[in-house]
Amino acid sequence: MNHHLTNKVALVTGSSRGLGAAMVTKLAENGAKVAINYINNEQGAQKVKNAVIAAGGQAEIFRADVTQESGVANLCKEINRVFGEIDILVLNATCHHRHLSIEELTWADMLEMMDYFVKSPLLLAKELLGPMKRKKWGRIIHIGSEAFELGMPEFSNYVAAKGAQLGLTRSWASELAPHNITVNLIAPGWIPTEMHRDAPESSIREYVENLPMKHMGEPYDIAAMVAFLASENAKFITGQKISVNGGNTFV
Ligand SMILES: NC(=O)c1ccc[n+]([C@@H]2O[C@H](COP(=O)([O-])OP(=O)(O)OC[C@H]3O[C@@H](n4cnc5c(N)ncnc54)[C@H](OP(=O)(O)O)[C@@H]3O)[C@@H](O)[C@H]2O)c1
Repeated sequence: MNHHLTNKVALVTGSSRGLGAAMVTKLAENGAKVAINYINNEQGAQKVKNAVIAAGGQAEIFRADVTQESGVANLCKEINRVFGEIDILVLNATCHHRHLSIEELTWADMLEMMDYFVKSPLLLAKELLGPMKRKKWGRIIHIGSEAFELGMPEFSNYVAAKGAQLGLTRSWASELAPHNITVNLIAPGWIPTEMHRDAPESSIREYVENLPMKHMGEPYDIAAMVAFLASENAKFITGQKISVNGGNTFV
């Protein structure tokens, strides 16, 4: 399905691999100029860029730590110079998540997650809202997680930060609706990516057995929803959490 994103500029944070790589590929297929962001994996980012260009799309890679003020400011300036003002912001980047019991958790573990799912969205939104408000058009898409609805144990640093991200989504949606800027959150189910490389086969089997659809999702399931929410087709949808998880949750 073509969502007609021609002339739109999209930034997907953390798009050198995993779900983010699928998102930039899908947005580019729909005509957007895509900014591929990474922190360490230049080779991965380059590979994603090459694939987008080979398919006839427009892409460039940008190294930046999206949890740091200076990284975010430079990133936005560079994208602006190369492609123009950013219309579509997808807040996707993440570090590796560790499962920790309450006794093991430190405040630093909590803050690490908040840096990714609250601080980084705030820094980016502050950079990008000016042009979006002036153009009276913008899309902010948070990538949350079903972990918040499931209240997964020994994962409260991640679950709490993903809950906070949903809070940002709802408050920003109300604040920005008069400016024709929509803010939504996609909550993926478990979609194995590089960060799950150590996950035992038995965990995947158990997850699938309990899933109404009885099979794992793919990165493109999430990417398709990103492209839809970024488009005019979704112009009257804001402040929503959309679960893409094969029916694993009903909210
Ligand atoms: N996959 C799932 O099952 C699943 C389920 C629910 C929710 N989610 C959410 O979906 C999002 C993507 O997950 P994923 O599985 O695709 O993750 P992933 O495969 O681990 O990819 C993480 C991406 O973030 C980048 N990154 C890490 N730290 C960064 C920083 N400080 N600045 C800029 N980029 C940074 C990485 O860049 P480098 O390659 O350079 O390291 C990489 O591109 C996350 O928000 C995650 O919580 C995922």
